[in-house]
Amino acid sequence: MTRKLIVLTLISTSLSGSIHLSTAADESTASGSDGRASPVFGVTLPAGYRDWQFISVAHEAGNNNDIRGILGNDIAMKAIKEGTLPFPDGSIIVRLAYEYVSSDRNNAIFGREQSFVAGAPTNVQLEVKDSKRYASTGGWGYGQFENGRANPSLKIINSCFACHAKLPASADLVFTTYSR
Ligand code: HEC
Repeated sequence: MTRKLIVLTLISTSLSGSIHLSTAADESTASGSDGRASPVFGVTLPAGYRDWQFISVAHEAGNNNDIRGILGNDIAMKAIKEGTLPFPDGSIIVRLAYEYVSSDRNNAIFGREQSFVAGAPTNVQLEVKDSKRYASTGGWGYGQFENGRANPSLKIINSCFACHAKLPASADLVFTTYSR
């Protein structure tokens, strides 16, 4: 009786071990070892995103010290303009961040330091709504890209939902609101 139990335990341990291994392998394929897709979510940069519509801007001081433009695809724009949240499946919001720099050229014309502009691009972050595929993270999948390549860091990708989830449920995990 005891021996049977031990054998069973051994079998189930090795089974779950192998299931685990193959899941990990699938995930690394899904996350695109070629750098196109984000880890965990498999989010890629959508074609034409740079030409999407303007939602708002933001400036982050602190470590990032950047300035950002937030754009949305047509599905996201309709929802955010009309305030009909939660966002429908297919919504994508992209946020383009740039170094926040003082413009010597513009300041020379003003005669004092008052012009701050976008410098070199730092990174692009994306939120993609797919309530089935991303059910465990409130329906949103995340990605961060530098120079068009997905950042492979699990620590970074797992921070996205953790922080956005601190918003009240009515925000549907999105901080930015539409600037008229
Ligand atoms: C510590 C909190 C925090 C973390 C971690 C974080 N974000 Fe955000 N995110 C914010 C805040 C606050 C804003 C809005 C203001 C701003 O841009 O500073 C924002 C804005 C955004 C936006 C613009 C749309 C919106 O929701 O307002 C996107 C897209 C975005 N984040 C994606 C990501 C991705 C992808 C990650 C992970 C790689 C991530 N964020 C990690 C706090 C966070």
